[in-house]
Amino acid sequence: MMLRMIILITGATAGFGLAIARRFGGESNRIIAVGRRKDRLDALVKELGANAVHPIAALQSEYSLWERRVEKHVLPAARELGVGFVPYSPLGRGFLTGTIVVDALEENDARRRHPRFSRENALQNERIVEAVRDVAGELGATPAQVALAWVLSHGNDVVPIPGTKRVKYVEENAGALGLHLTADQFARLEGLAAQTVGERYPPETMALIEQ
Ligand SMILES: NC(=O)c1ccc[n+]([C@@H]2O[C@H](COP(=O)([O-])OP(=O)(O)OC[C@H]3O[C@@H](n4cnc5c(N)ncnc54)[C@H](OP(=O)(O)O)[C@@H]3O)[C@@H](O)[C@H]2O)c1
Repeated sequence: MMLRMIILITGATAGFGLAIARRFGGESNRIIAVGRRKDRLDALVKELGANAVHPIAALQSEYSLWERRVEKHVLPAARELGVGFVPYSPLGRGFLTGTIVVDALEENDARRRHPRFSRENALQNERIVEAVRDVAGELGATPAQVALAWVLSHGNDVVPIPGTKRVKYVEENAGALGLHLTADQFARLEGLAAQTVGERYPPETMALIEQ
């Protein structure tokens, strides 16, 4: 049986998706669709009838305490279509863990170009980290665990992929699975995204995403 695969990649990474499609698709017809449309993955999936051709297992997009745009269209569409949701950068690229000192980031660290990590914006975004830290203190947990517990609380079909180079962080992050947020704590965390200062990508990347 020929394995067929559908890749729907939008925005800045669509070029990457096209490269994969050219490399592995072609004559074998394994990859049958590459999409390019910001935040309208739901429409794209419906237009292509992709789920009818082959079930789509999962969809990956940024989702965290400070980045919740997918809640408007993408997450509901994934649910409607029975597609699992994989939040990337669930720790806000590390910012929500409260361990990031922006001036200490390596010169070649991409976050140096991200508006939320500029010195001025990061100072304001520290308010978000403070609120996460407060909840973490109440639970005897770490801010990273609280940030992940918030993402996980959105359903069993939501499976975040925190990134790390360290085993100790993997172990710590796994602890989020056993964390229970009270209704009050959840409500306090819910309001934080509105306080985020700065876009999630530099302007040139945002322009690509919005194409
Ligand atoms: N599809 C896409 O367009 C896309 C875009 C971005 C990311 N992703 C994927 O999403 C995954 C995660 O995203 P991400 O790495 O950008 O962001 P993230 O998971 O939000 O944050 C990663 C950062 O948090 C730090 N960290 C992890 N656990 C920690 C803990 N317990 N305490 C303190 N710091 C902790 C890591 O430090 P260390 O690295 O020093 O351990 C790293 O700096 C990756 O697999 C990535 O490939 C996909």
